[in-house]
Amino acid sequence: MNPMQRQLHQKAILVTGALGALGQAAVRLFLKRGASIVACDLKSVEEAEDIGELQTRYGSDRIAYLQADVTREDDLERLERWIEAQRGRLDGVYHNAYTNKTAPIAKQSLAEWEDTLRGTLTSSFLMCRCASRLMGPEGGGGSVVLTSSILSRVPVVENAAYSAAKAGVEQLVRVAAVELAPQGIRVNAIVPGDFKAESFLAQAGEQFNETMRRLTLAGRSGYPNEINEVAALLLSDAATYVTGAHYPVTGGFELCR
Ligand SMILES: NC(=O)c1ccc[n+]([C@@H]2O[C@H](COP(=O)([O-])OP(=O)(O)OC[C@H]3O[C@@H](n4cnc5c(N)ncnc54)[C@H](O)[C@@H]3O)[C@@H](O)[C@H]2O)c1
Repeated sequence: MNPMQRQLHQKAILVTGALGALGQAAVRLFLKRGASIVACDLKSVEEAEDIGELQTRYGSDRIAYLQADVTREDDLERLERWIEAQRGRLDGVYHNAYTNKTAPIAKQSLAEWEDTLRGTLTSSFLMCRCASRLMGPEGGGGSVVLTSSILSRVPVVENAAYSAAKAGVEQLVRVAAVELAPQGIRVNAIVPGDFKAESFLAQAGEQFNETMRRLTLAGRSGYPNEINEVAALLLSDAATYVTGAHYPVTGGFELCR
């Protein structure tokens, strides 16, 4: 067997935002690498069409779908109880769910600001707490990968709430890494630049391609698995000495301004 197929062998990993662009591709990648996945998203089971196909291919002991809102404590308690009963423990969390209600500051309502912070920053805190409950103290530790954004560092108009929330995620990573280290839990963040699904990139017009040539050293937008490969590494035992770190996966976006 190719050693990469064993990269996440027997790791039980929770993927949030599992029906989004990054999450969907991550679920497939991690399954190929040997993980068992608990996929969670706001969307209904009926919208999780891919999951049935994956259960047929890999078995329902390797891939399960739970509809849950990761900003709600009651949903997360249900999720935690299910994981304890069905999987016993967790080895990894890859947190992708987020909220971004964009508006100029002058026009942003308090409700939009608070929704964005709750969906992006508060949900990240709740994921760290969930990891602490399901990976330690007797659980033997694990790895949490939170998803930040290059907008945590590069100011882009009409994104104040999202940018502030993602900057908060990066400091949360440092504090959580320190606090959860005694439980053997590592906490890191990926900092994506612009990425798009393959279907979008295959049809992208010249104007989009020209913009991405100008805005990145890579000369293009990223593919979801170019981000997810870094997450897989951080979730694996190859990264046991990596914690409290932030990994830009941007094609050099921040260097082109
Ligand atoms: N797409 C990009 O270019 C880009 C750039 C920088 C950072 N990111 C970050 O990458 C991550 C994934 O982005 P994406 O492009 O895959 O997003 P996406 O919009 O394609 O998917 C997000 C998924 O999260 C789910 N979700 C939202 N709120 C939820 C909640 N409260 N509970 C459970 N599920 C919820 C949605 O239903 C959706 O399926 C996000 O954290 C995002 O901020 C994306």
